Amino acid sequence: MAALEPRQVAVVTQPGASVYADEVEDGLREEALRVVRFDMAEGEVAKSWSTAGEILERLAGAEFHRDDVVVGVGGGVVTDTAGFVAATLLRGVRWIACPTTLLGALDAAIGGKTAVNLSAGKNLAGAFWQPAAVLVDTATFSTLPRREMVGGLAEALKYGFIDDPRILDIVGGWSQGEVQDPVHEVPDALEDVVARGMAVKARIVAEDEREGGLRAVLNYGHTLDHALETATAYRMSHGEAVSVGMVFAAELAHELGRIDADVVGLHRYVLRHVGLPVQAAESDVVAALPLMRRDKKATARGLRFVLLDGVGAPVIVEDVDEAMVRAAATRVTGRTQDL
Ligand SMILES: NC(=O)c1ccc[n+]([C@@H]2O[C@H](COP(=O)([O-])OP(=O)(O)OC[C@H]3O[C@@H](n4cnc5c(N)ncnc54)[C@H](O)[C@@H]3O)[C@@H](O)[C@H]2O)c1
Repeated sequence: MAALEPRQVAVVTQPGASVYADEVEDGLREEALRVVRFDMAEGEVAKSWSTAGEILERLAGAEFHRDDVVVGVGGGVVTDTAGFVAATLLRGVRWIACPTTLLGALDAAIGGKTAVNLSAGKNLAGAFWQPAAVLVDTATFSTLPRREMVGGLAEALKYGFIDDPRILDIVGGWSQGEVQDPVHEVPDALEDVVARGMAVKARIVAEDEREGGLRAVLNYGHTLDHALETATAYRMSHGEAVSVGMVFAAELAHELGRIDADVVGLHRYVLRHVGLPVQAAESDVVAALPLMRRDKKATARGLRFVLLDGVGAPVIVEDVDEAMVRAAATRVTGRTQDL
């Protein structure tokens, strides 16, 4: 922090991360910096226009200066809000993301998309505003519920499939059976996976900050994911639905002759290995199919997907035939006859 030479630092956090924010705050005070602390309420509802307004008012009241710094300590809800506040305060001050969830570290904190929700929908008020630094301590993940941890691993494995196969090797080989608690059982491997995943996202975003083309490959597994999350009324978590979505994308690529069956098998193996689902209930998949058609990735003639031409070789495929989509969807339900 000393290198940034602020006078004051805003620390924004949330209930699940407040112990880590306390540590950050103590460290800043030891450096003789003035700290303005803001504890957001819990959950997605707190990522709101009114929260951002409250923080902005507090900081303006504390005479925050152009050289001062905003720090977000928490999950994606916190880093999205802290980044948005930093983007708008005094037309932009520097900010640092300290993600304390695996999803936050691998996705939300990297890439400079900041936003809050409006009543009409998610992330409707936002800005592209890159953090000055992203600082991750994987030890903070030790308090995450297992479902959050496993869900975050789905994003890490996504980076493995689209760009860095070494991630798949590390995770696939990190024990005979399922690892229950990666933070304690395989700390070095976890750190390596997180660093590699963050590097993949940072590199892709650096090449395509405003989502002109390449950045779309980050949506691998996400077309079915969004539809499944909606179809199950969020009974399936984001990570669980991305996992099934990636198996579906692999089946579709295989159906189109782009990848061999063993690459599809690798998806199932490595995702199952960390405790992620590789299929969903038939009724949920049936409900998700029409939603997928309404997805913004659909084109006039057919559906558009991020698929693989091999591990580490993502490709955007347009106008995919509906029959192929149904065939691939069948394979993530456990049914033998096509839907
Ligand atoms: N900006 C982007 O590019 C981007 C990308 C992906 C997701 N997002 C956003 O990220 C948000 C989701 O992120 P999230 O899953 O981190 O949600 P979140 O911030 O709500 O955190 C999930 C839960 O974990 C708790 N928590 C945080 N750190 C913890 C820890 N170390 N131990 C125990 N509990 C902890 C939180 O209090 C919360 O209950 C969404 O708002 C989404 O829109 C943004």
